[in-house]
Parts: sequence; structure tokens; C-alpha cells
Amino acid sequence: MDQKQVYIETYGCQMNVADTEVVLSIMGSNSFGITDDASKADVIFINTCSVRDNAEARVFQRLATLKQYKKLNPGVVIGVLGCMAERLRTELIDKRNLVDVVVGPDEYRKLPELVDEAFAGHKGIAVKLSRVENYDDILPLRTDGIGAWISVMRGCDKFCTFCVVPFTRGRERSRSLGSVIGEVERLSAEGYKEITLLGQNVNSYHDGTNDFPDLMAAAAAVDRSIRVRFMTPHPQDVSDKLIGAIASTPNICASIHLPIQSGSNRVLKQMNRTYTIEQYLALVATIRAAIPGVALSTDIIAGFPGETDDDHRATIDTLMRVRYDGAFMFKYSPRENTKAWDMGDDVSEEVKVRRLTDIIEVQNTIATEINALLVGSTVEVLVEKVSAKSSDEWMGRTDNNKFVVFPKAGAAIGDMVNVKIHKANSATLMGTIV
Ligand code: 5AD
Ligand code: SF4
Repeated sequence: MDQKQVYIETYGCQMNVADTEVVLSIMGSNSFGITDDASKADVIFINTCSVRDNAEARVFQRLATLKQYKKLNPGVVIGVLGCMAERLRTELIDKRNLVDVVVGPDEYRKLPELVDEAFAGHKGIAVKLSRVENYDDILPLRTDGIGAWISVMRGCDKFCTFCVVPFTRGRERSRSLGSVIGEVERLSAEGYKEITLLGQNVNSYHDGTNDFPDLMAAAAAVDRSIRVRFMTPHPQDVSDKLIGAIASTPNICASIHLPIQSGSNRVLKQMNRTYTIEQYLALVATIRAAIPGVALSTDIIAGFPGETDDDHRATIDTLMRVRYDGAFMFKYSPRENTKAWDMGDDVSEEVKVRRLTDIIEVQNTIATEINALLVGSTVEVLVEKVSAKSSDEWMGRTDNNKFVVFPKAGAAIGDMVNVKIHKANSATLMGTIV
């Protein structure tokens, strides 16, 4: 058999998951086959993340273990894709003899050619960032489930001082509304039940004519039985128009991820987050008044340069005021080339760990309290997949993004079912179909 097989592993955010589907589509239409078994692969791609140091460390560990596949099959081509390719470039080829191709997020169209050259023994690098590449014409190769990610814009112009993304993914650019809607129509015809519009800064989407609320409204109008979600908005660009679109459109889900990063105005300023706590809290109040039952989640960074105990208390205080349904909580990780890198990483590891632990404890208590209020109620759930803990149970989500686990009881993936909640913890509701 001479069709070469590609295997790909994905690290990091949902943008990478969506990019992996683009890469598989490009390889697939260039006569490569796709395998989910690395030991059978002729090409092994690792799609990487640079957002925190531990994400990169995981990839380096994985690269070390990939040596076994080179031993098994010396002809195998190994490629590093995505943000680490962009950030580390030649270092990956020079210092890691193992890697044959290094390709950044805007150069995936070159992959088939670079891989062919690598089979002939030539290492290849393509890491130019583009102001226009948005893979508009490439139909992502989606593999599983009833939910689809649609990347609608790429890049970020916000330059939060801690963040490497503007450097690894370049400037903002949006696909045309028409091409996104065409994709939603195809997904509807294929039976998908949920779509998530994706972008590093999704609500700054603009195709020259249409803004993000226009896009959301148009996507939701394609098929009213499809749930529409979006990731990740920046608080600065959450307009009244967007809130209005969510509030007035039943199939746009009532959950918003609204990264706050810190509860201290001083730190927010140092982070270049462009809002004050007062503005953020006013936005939260507007959202909650307009969208009944809306769930809010957030991202928090502990131990940003110069963060004092007072700043940390302000973050805890804000968590208690907002009462988020969920949060992703991180220790600050210095990234080279960012403005914060030059501020020095002056909060000790010990203090970072203590503050992060505080934040996690407070947030888990709040989420547990919020979810406990749902015990005894009946919620509507879209059945998504088999529960990770038990093959006899389904996992699904409510409109406002709560994870629900329940015995299968004859329901099938893609069904909308009513589940009576018996138990809840900080992350999951447990119940039975009624
Ligand atoms: N250190 C820690 N967390 C970071 N994030 C982004 N950059 C860093 C960093 N250097 C977090 C932010 C962002 C999320 C995707 O990752 O909270 O919202
Ligand atoms: Fe990074 Fe800020 Fe852009 Fe988000 S908005 S990708 S945190 S620079």
C-alpha cells in the first residue's frame, strides 16, 4: 500500500482542535490517508500550544517519546505545527534532530509539499504569519460527535501584556459571513446539533460589512434546532447588540465565557485588559438583566508581575461578587517577547501556588453552591457522548453549559431529553431522564 498515513495529536485550545481539522482536510485532499494509530503512521504531526510554559513542556516530553516511532520506521516524518512552531522556529529543527518539518498556523497549505520534501530528506520550515489567510475555502475534516467548531476569525490585536498569542497567531482577520453560513448549512444538512463559533477574540469579528452579532444571528437562523455557542469573547467588545442577539434568539445558548484575568484595577491596567473592574461588573449586571438564566464563566491568572496581597484579595472579592458558574484558573507563566516578560516574574512560585489554591477553593465553593440550587429541578439536556466515568451513562449539556451525567435509559446521542437532577458538585449535575 503506498498511500501515506497521517497521524496528528492536538494540544492547547479549541482553535488548535479546529486547525487540526483544517490540516487533516488539506492532507486528505492531497492523497494522504488519516490514521489514529501513531505506530502505523508515515507522518506524525503535533499541533502545539505556547500559552503557558507547562503546555510547551508537555510537547517537549511527547517529542522525546516519539523517538520510538522513528526507530520503528526510520522514514517517518515528524512535524511540529501551531504556536510552538511559530515561537521556536529553527530551534526545533536545529536542537531537536527528530523534527523534520516546522509549520506555523498560517502556512498549513504548504504541508503536503513540505512533507513530500521531508520524505526526500529535506527538512522544512514555514512560519510566516499572514494578514489574510483564514482557510475560508477549506472544509474542515470533522471526525466525531454532534457538535462542530467553526473558526470564524483568526489572530488577536489586543496584546494583553501576558499573552503570546498575538505573536504566534498574528493579526486579526475574519472570514466572510457568507462562507461561515455556507458551512453552517452543510453542518445542518449533515445532522449536527450544535455549533461553536470560534476565534481568539471572537467578538471582534468583522468581515467589512457584518459584525459579530450579525454573524451570530445569521448562523442561528440557518437551523433553529441547532444550538449556537461562541468562544472566546473579550469583555471590551461585548456590545449591547451582541447581548440583544443572545437574549432574543432562543437557539443562541445562554452562557458567556467572559475572561476577567484579575480583580484588581492596578493589575488589569498592567495587563492592558482595557476595562476596569467597575466597567466589567456593570457589563455583568447588564448581561444578567437581559439574559435570564445566563451562566457566566471566566479565566483568572494568579501571580502576575507585581501582584500584591491586596491585588489578590481584590480578585477573590470579585469572584465572590460575580459568582461565576465556572472558571479556568492559572498561575502566571512568563512568555518571551511579551511586555509582561520585561516586568520580571517577581511573585514567588510559593506565593503563586498559594494564591491559585485560594482562588480555586473560593471558586469551587461558589460553583458547588450554584449547582446545588439545581438539585430537584428538571433541566433540558442535549445528549452528546458516553460519560467518561461509565459506559452506561450519557453526558450532555444544558443550554447554559452545565455538564449533566445520567443513565442512558433508551436515549440516543443527539436527542434532547429532560433530566431530573438528584446530585451536583462544582462541575457536574447528576440525574435521571424523566
Ligand atoms: N500565563 C498564565 N495564563 C495565561 N493565559 C494567557 N497567557 C497566560 C500566561 N502567560 C490564560 C489567560 C487566557 C487563557 C486562554 O490563558 O487567562 O484567557
Ligand atoms: Fe491573548 Fe488577550 Fe488576545 Fe486573549 S485577548 S488571545 S488573552 S492577547
